[in-house]
Amino acid sequence: MEIGIDKIGFYTPHLYVDMNKLAYERNVEPEKFTIGIGQEKMAIAPLTQDPVTMAANAALEILDEEDKEKIDFVLFGTESGIDQSKSAAVYVHRLLGLNAQARAVEVKQACYGATAAIQMAKGHIALNPESRVLVLGSDIARYGLNTGGEATQGAGAIAMVVSKDPSIMVFEGPSAYLTDDVMDFWRPAYSGEAFVDGKLSNEQYIAFFSRAWDQYKAKTGLELADFDAFSFHLPYTKMGKKALKAVLDEGSEADSERLLANHQIGAIYNRNVGNIYTASLYLSLLSLLEQNEDLQDGSRIGLFSYGSGAVGELFAGRLKNGYREHLHVERHRELFATRKEVTVSEYEEIFQETLPTDGSRLELDIHQDPANVCLSGIEGHARQYVNKASGIREEKVAAHVER
Ligand code: HMG
Repeated sequence: MEIGIDKIGFYTPHLYVDMNKLAYERNVEPEKFTIGIGQEKMAIAPLTQDPVTMAANAALEILDEEDKEKIDFVLFGTESGIDQSKSAAVYVHRLLGLNAQARAVEVKQACYGATAAIQMAKGHIALNPESRVLVLGSDIARYGLNTGGEATQGAGAIAMVVSKDPSIMVFEGPSAYLTDDVMDFWRPAYSGEAFVDGKLSNEQYIAFFSRAWDQYKAKTGLELADFDAFSFHLPYTKMGKKALKAVLDEGSEADSERLLANHQIGAIYNRNVGNIYTASLYLSLLSLLEQNEDLQDGSRIGLFSYGSGAVGELFAGRLKNGYREHLHVERHRELFATRKEVTVSEYEEIFQETLPTDGSRLELDIHQDPANVCLSGIEGHARQYVNKASGIREEKVAAHVER
């Protein structure tokens, strides 16, 4: 049975900051951010967008009535979840109006979460061939104003329907994966921002890729020449290029040219969004599929997932005949084209806005946000969500909760 990606949707908030202008304000040469890091624009999430709303917005563009009926598992990869207990998947399940006969859980291991979700989805479909699984990756990357990681922040989500006989990509063969306890990046439960050892994280990323690649070759007998492209988890676009370069001397000049050119195309969306943690690898895959019109049906694409802490996995997929017809290239062009630039001081202001944590009520102006699904406020410690498209209002006021 063939199992893979049947549909893929994407969402990023409507605000961004220009990296040249951020560099100017931070007294850094713009080329450090645009070339050294490889980022052009950084998506900014207003208070009306959180990982739940972004994931729901990404899913809304791909789900039809049949999906809503057949999806029996919602797997939500995130590392910026909104609750220590209730999974973000349950909120999305409701906001999308999915069939109640479904499982809904959150999966966490830094940026690896959505890949773990894909592997779980594969197993679920192998046992239940008629089912469809909604895999979500959604995150807001925050390091803090004026920090070393600031230029590698971002916000956005990817939604994928994983099923048998998929329309876009079939997962192929064995995976290579590894875990090692490394303190390169983490976010304690009491902190809204991540702690990071930037240099160590870069080294570990490359080391994990090299080890996974060696393991993958040993398991499959495949080599660089067998791949049309590699998609990487992209915390910033230069990172994937560095990892790819670490193995390129194994192949021919033609392999280097092809893989580097496709890496650049796969980085287009990420350059304009920033790090979206769990969804970054799949945003890079989407960028490659939508922006490279020369990719042939049947092309083999390697996918490298890295989640700090750390877990890495390398696996592959092959493009299905006619995959392009199942993409939403025009919609994504419009999503990028209609974004609004904010100044650095506006970004700083948005960054510092937070929801009340004392149980008080806050109502947000969702009319300023063009997205369908928005956070409309908070009441009694419960987030209030609205799906403008369906009129679903998530008014789960925790009035009965005694504190
Ligand atoms: P930094 O210290 O600000 O930057 O930190 P740098 O001094 O290392 O410079 C960056 C690059 O810009 C260098 O290139 C410079 O040479 C170049 P490289 O040597 O690396 O190729 N540069 C210039 N280029 C052109 N013109 C110039 C210029 N000036 C300098 N004028 C760092 C950078 C990425 C470490 C920092 O932003 C950071 O800590 N980010 C967060 C951590 C991160 O993204 N790590 C990536 C691997 S870990 C990962 O992927 C997991 C993660 O997504 C989390 C998860 O799993 O949940 C982060």
